[in-house]
Amino acid sequence: MNKFLVIGNPIAHSKSPIIHQQFAKQLNIKMTYDKCLLESEEFEVEIKKMFADGLSGTNITYPYKERAYNLCDQVSARAELSKAVNTLYMKDGVLCGDNTDGQGLVQDLLFNKLELQNKHILIIGAGGAVRGCIPSLLEVKPAHITIANRTKGKAMQIVTEMGSDSLSAISLMDVRNNYDIVINATSLSIYNEVPEMNPCVFENAIAAYDMVYSQQENAFLKWALANNSGIKVIDGLGMLVEQAAEAFYVWHKVRPNTEKIRDFLVNS
Ligand code: ATR
Repeated sequence: MNKFLVIGNPIAHSKSPIIHQQFAKQLNIKMTYDKCLLESEEFEVEIKKMFADGLSGTNITYPYKERAYNLCDQVSARAELSKAVNTLYMKDGVLCGDNTDGQGLVQDLLFNKLELQNKHILIIGAGGAVRGCIPSLLEVKPAHITIANRTKGKAMQIVTEMGSDSLSAISLMDVRNNYDIVINATSLSIYNEVPEMNPCVFENAIAAYDMVYSQQENAFLKWALANNSGIKVIDGLGMLVEQAAEAFYVWHKVRPNTEKIRDFLVNS
């Protein structure tokens, strides 16, 4: 039977197994999908060993996406741009990598009926999460994407690498109030903290999005609502489901329906 994993550290909280198992059931595909904790020093060696032992594919999560990219023999165009990989598989003896995070974000924004074309998007953070998403966000032709980061140099580096006129970098301190969609891609919400920036960013925005999903109330989205009661707030649950659906498609070449699992996860 085909065997799949999600690998990270920590990994106990991961909802990927339940999502992929539901997709497999829906499409009548026989496979297993489990969580796997890997310690930092064993990552590369273990991945190679697992594939040599017949692993069909693995999702890679925090903190290994950049290391997974470096391990690949071949990567997709979107993974090359983002320099991070969340989906690994073996093809003709070659270790291949892809990045489905950006597609997951865009699909979820569209699922939430947000118009993206010609809109001004602010994305906060400049880590792997942002790198992974920029190529897919650029594809939907927004008017502009501003990357705001505490360390401006990291945001500037991404802008230089992506080479698009629709992108610019600013310091977190320089955010303004002229964005349509505000996306938090820092990991602060995990710790119930919000970035130190002027909350005027929410004033004229249609939506605030946080890539983090947890059962607790999301501090960033709560803050957005406190500064604009009419703003639409969306957490990272849908992105999680949609990036999984895209990874499932990469592996199995069939696209699962994502609506049922969304309802299931919200109510479980
Ligand atoms: P990931 O791969 O999940 O994106 P990361 O690469 O560690 O994680 O990046 C974390 C992001 O959160 C960075 O943009 C980081 O800002 P810096 O580049 O300045 O470090 C941002 N971040 C983390 N803690 C923060 C804080 N207290 N305030 C503002 N931004 C923060």
